[in-house]
Amino acid sequence: MTKNTMASANDSRQNQKDAADQNFDYMFKLLIIGNSSVGKTSFLFRYADDSFTSAFVSTVGIDFKVKTVYRNEKRVKLQIWDTAGQERYRTITTAYYRGAMGFLLMYDISNQDSFNAVQDWATQIKTYSWDNAQVILVGNKCDLEDDRMIPTEDGKRLADELGFEFFEASAKENINVKQVFEHLVDTICEKMNESLDANSSPVSNSKNANLSEAPSQQSSGCSC
Ligand code: GTP
Ligand code: MG
Repeated sequence: MTKNTMASANDSRQNQKDAADQNFDYMFKLLIIGNSSVGKTSFLFRYADDSFTSAFVSTVGIDFKVKTVYRNEKRVKLQIWDTAGQERYRTITTAYYRGAMGFLLMYDISNQDSFNAVQDWATQIKTYSWDNAQVILVGNKCDLEDDRMIPTEDGKRLADELGFEFFEASAKENINVKQVFEHLVDTICEKMNESLDANSSPVSNSKNANLSEAPSQQSSGCSC
């Protein structure tokens, strides 16, 4: 077995262990979508493993990683799905939109096509996902200032039009990666609390049941 194969087997075992861990208060399913090569896989690896490689290995179909975070004394288990941006995998990837509570819709600030495609990706979310899914528009590769094609203002404006939050980030330089995920988790928690406040019996509400999948969850609200 080569060193790389061993490392990847270890990663895979760790991911399986994390996925099986039942010790959490809430579980959120998140998806990362956007054109091929915008940096979705790199973003996830930076967040989950604090690693980055400049080699481009285009994702085949879909993959996921699990990470548990603590937000205001709650353990929130994140199941983060990394989708392939290539068109030919669209049927597979859109099948995973259902049940997702949050999306990172990513473009590359140095790639005009990836920005032009944002509207189409937003339509895919609207078509295939749950109505209340929270979306953050992420302009990745903000380290490439010299190659920038999309001014920050344009990203912000488009996010406003679509009703999404907006961040620029860099998986390479580790800029705003953690912040993007934490913001998404906090927004989902806020929505969940609003929803729980509006419904006195969360257990009987199917939408809320979708939001909090922890097996032993007792409390009636997320204090995130
Ligand atoms: P698909 O799997 O085909 O959908 O692509 P992807 O969106 O997962 O892209 P991936 O993460 O594989 O990254 C594509 C290329 O961009 C790789 O060569 C990465 O090293 C590079 N890259 C990713 N993020 C950044 C970044 O923040 N800055 C720079 N400069 N390069 C990045
Ligand atoms: Mg990928």
